[in-house]
This record gives sequence, structure tokens and C-alpha cells, in this order.
Amino acid sequence: MQDARMLFFFLSSLFSGVGALCSCSTTSIPVHVDVLLPKNPLDTFAGQTNASGLRRLDNTYNISGVFCRPEAVSSDVIQLLVHGITYTSQYWAPPTEEFRNYSYAAFSCDRGIPSLAVDWLGVGLSSRPESASDVQYPSVSAAMSQIALLLKTTPIFPGTRPFQKVIGMGHSAGSGLLNFGAIVEGPHSPFDGLILTGLLIVEPADLGPISSMLSPARDVDPLRWATLDPAYVSTANRTIFYSPDKTAFSPRMFAFDNFTKDVGTDRVDFRTDSDDVVAE
Ligand SMILES: *[C@@H]1O[C@H](CO)[C@@H](O)[C@H](O)[C@H]1NC(C)=O
Ligand SMILES: *[C@@H]1O[C@H](CO)[C@@H](O)[C@H](O)[C@H]1NC(C)=O
Ligand SMILES: *[C@@H]1O[C@H](CO)[C@@H](O)[C@H](O)[C@H]1NC(C)=O
Ligand SMILES: *[C@@H]1O[C@H](CO)[C@@H](O)[C@H](O)[C@H]1NC(C)=O
Ligand SMILES: *[C@@H]1O[C@H](CO)[C@@H](O)[C@H](O)[C@H]1NC(C)=O
Repeated sequence: MQDARMLFFFLSSLFSGVGALCSCSTTSIPVHVDVLLPKNPLDTFAGQTNASGLRRLDNTYNISGVFCRPEAVSSDVIQLLVHGITYTSQYWAPPTEEFRNYSYAAFSCDRGIPSLAVDWLGVGLSSRPESASDVQYPSVSAAMSQIALLLKTTPIFPGTRPFQKVIGMGHSAGSGLLNFGAIVEGPHSPFDGLILTGLLIVEPADLGPISSMLSPARDVDPLRWATLDPAYVSTANRTIFYSPDKTAFSPRMFAFDNFTKDVGTDRVDFRTDSDDVVAE
């Protein structure tokens, strides 16, 4: 752990909040992942029934995140915010003042609670493995747990102290991911609590197969993703993520989301969380 250095770029903004002042900055955190992955990512039993169904992934990646903290209050607790598929840390922390009211990071920061909203491995500004099959629950979950552990052992800023507790908060596939990690790690999990939020806003009955929402990212936006492994996927149409009540959100947020959407991987078995779709 000693050589795990954190790199900080003080790029971003000061949020002037209602009661508090929050400062947010982007960070990049190197993590070492050494896990066994199913050779066939869609294998229902995750390779566990057959030892030759597993392969080892041993690699170092940079995980990018947005760290927000209240200026005036110091907290022993931090939230690790984990987005869902085709989103990034911006799901929790949209970087423009216009969408501050959509920012959970700003909301909780105003109430004294810091957060680190990360990009999944393969997504946003985090390292993107060439093969999407390296981006599976076991590898991404290991990266998240390592970050949680770092938050408890290493100061995230020079002059600050490590946090005593890390609460994982998931959105959609991010919830599936944190849930996966809790099952695999059990009492060894570095998380002190989990808050798992829902998958989609529509009724389960109105939801087609999740795979039908996702297309190879290189087809969705060749300008951005032409060279990606086709198993990196994205969405052409993000209506599914929004309330049918069009007055419930700003049309500018819908447009912003379309322009800032990212990729996910179809190598994650969504059946584990598609059974308990909740209306948000
Ligand atoms: C074990 O897994 C490998 C790789 O997925 C597969 O080729 C092989 O058929 C499997 N063997 C059995 C007995 O299921
Ligand atoms: C991580 O970021 C550092 C600093 O930008 C860079 O030197 C290194 O090559 C990156 N590592 C990976 C695996 O991308
Ligand atoms: C955010 O919400 C507050 C309270 O409802 C409102 O006063 C403010 O104008 C909103 N800000 C933006 C940028 O929409
Ligand atoms: C997006 O999907 C919705 C239904 O989910 C549909 O009503 C709408 O026409 C689609 N928009 C575009 C631009 O294809
Ligand atoms: C989404 O963005 C693409 C360009 O990336 C644009 O062509 C398309 O019209 C946008 N769709 C909506 C609904 O804003």
C-alpha cells in the first residue's frame, strides 16, 4: 500500500452552497487488481463450476474520481459513489453550476459529508483495458475495495487524515457491483456500510431486456469510440433513464446527459440486478 500514490489535479470548482462551502477536485488513484475472472463473462456460474473456466487478471489501473469535501467541517466518514452503466462520476457530480441541483455530491457536501465519485474501470477518465472482458464485477469490485481501503489508510489530500469509515453508495449496476463485493469479501470488506439505489425509473413490466438498450459504443458514436472493442457498449437513446413525466427534469439535463454519456461493458451479468428493478 505504501507505494500507492495519489495524484491530484486541482482543476475544478468551488461550489458555493447554502450553508457550507464545498471544494471539489478530480483525482486519479492507481490501484492494483489481481483477481480471477470467468473466461466466459456471460457464464451464469462465473466459471466457478470449472477451474479451467477462470483466468487471472493482474494489472495496475488508474481510477479517476471527483472528490468533494465541505471546507468548514471535517468528517470521519466518506461516501464512495459508484455510478451505473454508461454513466460516469458525473451521475453524482455534474460539473457545471447549472446542474448543481442535480448533484448528490453537492447536496451531501452542503450537509457536511464528503464524497469520492469514481469512474468505473474502463469508463470516463479511468484506465480503459483494451479488452472489455477485463471489465467484470470481480475486477471492478476489487478496484473499488482497494480505493475504499486507501481512503481509510492514506490521506486523500496533503494535510488531511484518513477517513475512519467508508460508505459505498451505488446507482444501478454500481449497486450490483457493491453488492457483489460484499458477498465476495464478507467480513473482510473495507466498506462500513452500503446504500444501494435503483436500476431504472420505469416499471419492471415496461422494461425490455437490458441488452436491447445497449449497442456497441463504436456504432453509437464513432467519433468518440470507433476503435473500441465492440463489447464496450453505450446507449443511443437515454429516455429509459428519465421519468415519463417530462416536467420532472430539465430538458437541458437530458441533452447534457446525451453529450456526456459514456461506455459500459456487456461483460457484466446484469441478471443479478435486473430481477429487483425499483422505481426511483
Ligand atoms: C470448462 O470451461 C472451459 C472454458 O470456459 C470450457 O471450454 C470447458 O468446456 C469447460 N468444461 C466443462 C466440463 O464444463
Ligand atoms: C496512471 O497515471 C500516471 C500519471 O498520469 C501515468 O504515468 C501512468 O502511466 C498511468 N497508468 C496507467 C495504467 O494508465
Ligand atoms: C436550485 O434550487 C434552488 C431551491 O429550489 C433554487 O432556488 C435555485 O434557483 C436552483 N438553482 C438552479 C441553478 O436551478
Ligand atoms: C427514445 O426512446 C423512446 C422510448 O423509450 C421513444 O419514445 C423516443 O422516440 C426515442 N427517441 C429517439 C430520438 O429515438
Ligand atoms: C445526442 O448527441 C448526438 C451527438 O453525440 C446528437 O447527434 C443527437 O442529436 C443527440 N440526441 C439528443 C436527444 O439530444
